[in-house]
Amino acid sequence: MPQNNPICVALDTPDVAKARALARAVKSHVGMLKIGLEFFYANGAAGYEAVAAEGVPIFLDLKLHDIPNTVAQGLTSLLKLSPAPVITNIHAGGGLDMMKAAKDAVGDKVKLIAVTILTSLSDENIWAAGFDTRKTDEHALNLAKLTHQAGLDGVVCSPLDLAAIRKELPRDFLTVVPGIRLADAATHDQKRVATPKAAVEAGANVLVIGRAITGATDPAKAAADIFASLK
Ligand code: C5P
Repeated sequence: MPQNNPICVALDTPDVAKARALARAVKSHVGMLKIGLEFFYANGAAGYEAVAAEGVPIFLDLKLHDIPNTVAQGLTSLLKLSPAPVITNIHAGGGLDMMKAAKDAVGDKVKLIAVTILTSLSDENIWAAGFDTRKTDEHALNLAKLTHQAGLDGVVCSPLDLAAIRKELPRDFLTVVPGIRLADAATHDQKRVATPKAAVEAGANVLVIGRAITGATDPAKAAADIFASLK
């Protein structure tokens, strides 16, 4: 876990050489790197291990969502990666039994967190998907409580959900927060966003940042500037 630097850069590329070059460029300015679907589906364990060899802690963001046995066995396979990720995740929407089975499978070998409501979803989006009339923030808090009840270490949530989660759940419950945008920057496909400083002030432990760093002309400078903006 990053002690002093909460920035986790999302290495969203299918290209191993590009991911390694980005990792090398930013590693002295960030606390963690994130490997997600785009990279892992293209490059698997070998690609993961090539990036992890850069020596930065890895958040493996594969968002497992399946029946309890399949998620538990999938996580058991992921724990064979070397070095193991420090954080990995599942979807809280998989339910209490699935989350408990997942936690039993990983024990304390990795911090296990659950995605609540994706930061790309608005109230209208979740209503259209057939959820009841609750709003995204009520859903996210409910799923965070379920995640805590299942014994997981924390959640992935929007910066806008942090205040309620911090109020209702213990302070050591980990919050990993995407949807981070610099003031006046493009939001792309993200909808529930905040600046790095606002997210940290609201209680984020880890800031997941992709395009604001990886799309910059100088990713190392972008990461350093964001870190400086937190002070
Ligand atoms: O480029 P950007 O900063 O929007 O990237 C955000 C990263 O965080 C992406 O890798 C995305 O998969 C991930 N993420 C997210 N929302 C979640 C969980 C993960 O945006 N709820």
